[in-house]
Amino acid sequence: MQQPQHIGSTDPILAAGDEPASNTSPNAYFGDILEARVSRRALLRGSLAAAVAGAMATTLPFGGAFAATVSRAAAPSLGFKAIPVSAADRVVVPEGYRVQTFIPWGTPISGDMPAFSLDASGEDQAQQIGSHHDGMHFFPIDGSSRDGLLVLNHEYVEPRFLHGAARGLALDSEGFPQHEDGSRDPDQVLKELNAHGVSVVRVRQGDDGQWQVVADAHNRRITGLTPMRLAGPVAGTAHVQTRYSPDGSMTRGTLNNCAHGVTPWNTYLAAEENWSGYFANQDTEIDRRQTRYGIVTRDTGRYQWHKATGGADETLRFDASSRGASAGEDYRNEPHAFGWMVEIDPHDPESTPVKRTHLGRFAHEGVIFAPAEEGQPVVCYSGDDARFEYIYKFVSARPYQAASADGSLLDEGTLYVARFNEDGSGEWLALAPGENGLTPEHGFADLADILVNTRSAADHVGATRMDRPEWGAVDPVTGQVYFTLTNNTRREAGQEHAANPRPDNGFGHIIRWQEDGTHTAERFAWDLFALAGDQDDSRDLAGQPLDRDAIFASPDGLWIDPDRRVWIQTDISESVMNNGIFDVFGNNQMLAANPETGEIKRFLTGPVGQEITGITMTPDQRTLFVNVQHPGATTGAEAFAAGDFASHWPEGGSAVPRSATLVITREDGGIIGA
Ligand code: FEO
Ligand code: CA
Ligand code: CA
Ligand code: CA
Repeated sequence: MQQPQHIGSTDPILAAGDEPASNTSPNAYFGDILEARVSRRALLRGSLAAAVAGAMATTLPFGGAFAATVSRAAAPSLGFKAIPVSAADRVVVPEGYRVQTFIPWGTPISGDMPAFSLDASGEDQAQQIGSHHDGMHFFPIDGSSRDGLLVLNHEYVEPRFLHGAARGLALDSEGFPQHEDGSRDPDQVLKELNAHGVSVVRVRQGDDGQWQVVADAHNRRITGLTPMRLAGPVAGTAHVQTRYSPDGSMTRGTLNNCAHGVTPWNTYLAAEENWSGYFANQDTEIDRRQTRYGIVTRDTGRYQWHKATGGADETLRFDASSRGASAGEDYRNEPHAFGWMVEIDPHDPESTPVKRTHLGRFAHEGVIFAPAEEGQPVVCYSGDDARFEYIYKFVSARPYQAASADGSLLDEGTLYVARFNEDGSGEWLALAPGENGLTPEHGFADLADILVNTRSAADHVGATRMDRPEWGAVDPVTGQVYFTLTNNTRREAGQEHAANPRPDNGFGHIIRWQEDGTHTAERFAWDLFALAGDQDDSRDLAGQPLDRDAIFASPDGLWIDPDRRVWIQTDISESVMNNGIFDVFGNNQMLAANPETGEIKRFLTGPVGQEITGITMTPDQRTLFVNVQHPGATTGAEAFAAGDFASHWPEGGSAVPRSATLVITREDGGIIGA
């Protein structure tokens, strides 16, 4: 008899698997110590305009960097007719656009191409598209806009929709089948591990305009089990020695891959976001390498993988308790091999993925590279998506040279963390030995210690605590860097900061900044691009409330296309979507914005229970790929047991909902969004 089981969150606005706040550092909130530029009273509902106008009219340093750069740039058109919000179980796009549903979870791509089935085995899953599609990039083959490698992340799984054996059980979105003694079926665990990770799949557009999977030697699944190399300062140190890799050079698998990045040398980086929940640890004394990431003494993990019957090494490792005589005999260090950015070369199916440790260890949402310049350092930005966490930047030590550039550029350099000042200026604080108090006397032994403890180092240097940093994007013309800040309902009155101006920030906002000169600068000027929310509690760049064609909440996915359209994707948690103050937003959606005027228009609405995430285009900008993640996640446990799913997308009828990719084109073959 299998019993439902789950580990729940007590915060109503967190989605499945999101990290609860673990930043208990005493960093001062700027709002506590300065006379806030944006006063709390002025930010109360209905009197937001004055406050935001103040925040956005700040005199910027560097001679008004924003004004100077923006005035030189051409504005993109938003030529489509905005669509209304929707609560329907389908995808809606503007008039004149077409949508094809593509590569849903379980689509065979490699090996003997096992057909989709709820009863497919764990081994089958390793040859099929994973679940919960997220960050994604189209790598053209020979520059083609009709033939390429689509690479996409699979953030997590809902076991109830993954296993035929779960049908009829009362399972919610985090639940899973479990034996009475708490153990788990090992093939179900294998299927869940293999439904995580990354898919590389060759795709081609036929003469009929439809896109198809091509059986191709490039096609591969990278999963929670794939051997990976550690590189950079943490590789080979005592922090990552395990029974699997006593010399600390290797680890297995990548998990909770949210957004991604594309390097200037055309490889893919998958981010490890909410990985800490997967680990149990029964030690009574756990140090900051785990506690600062949310791992506390417990015998539970998100899916209880460590309780798979048979006790295989690859599942036992999810219990990080100290059991052996030394770290090389157990998995006390296994969680230290997660929280990194993972480099994958999609062009070489034999390549071993590499965890690039110099980019820091945290709940990486994704990474975004500044345009590479010959002879200059490589620069990239990454957000740590948990409440009150930080935004980071890496600057390589060696210069970019197109002819020889590769991932080793990410192994030497400087990791910085952002401090946003109330006056609209900001600075990058180096997380390096001897810098900003990061010394052995203060508990930071060396560079590897700083990087394994990235969050603690950022606490120590006084970085600014943000409202859950998600995706970033760089404007290809102005160089402005945008980041979404999805929400933070734990920011209390008195903790407001000009860069995070609302207490109980359920709707989120978008910040942007301009570096002082080049992307390697240590100073920048910032402003707020938009405060998300309903028509009573939102502001666009012009200081106006968002109208009904523009309202959105919980911005997450963010991408700027070659014409400078800013695409915004939303992730209102399934725990609150279509309810209360979130009712007006309908299902999660995607909008496009003009980076100069701040105009925002709704472009797409998704089916019930999902989030819209992941976006990439063909070089000709005539095919847009967008992901739909976790349709039907709003299904309650009893409704699940009754087969009454909140969504049956995409197949309809009585089908289980499946994450999938949307392929969007224009009926007239034109540029998407124009
Ligand atoms: Fe996986 Fe921060 O969204
Ligand atoms: Ca998600
Ligand atoms: Ca996300
Ligand atoms: Ca999110």
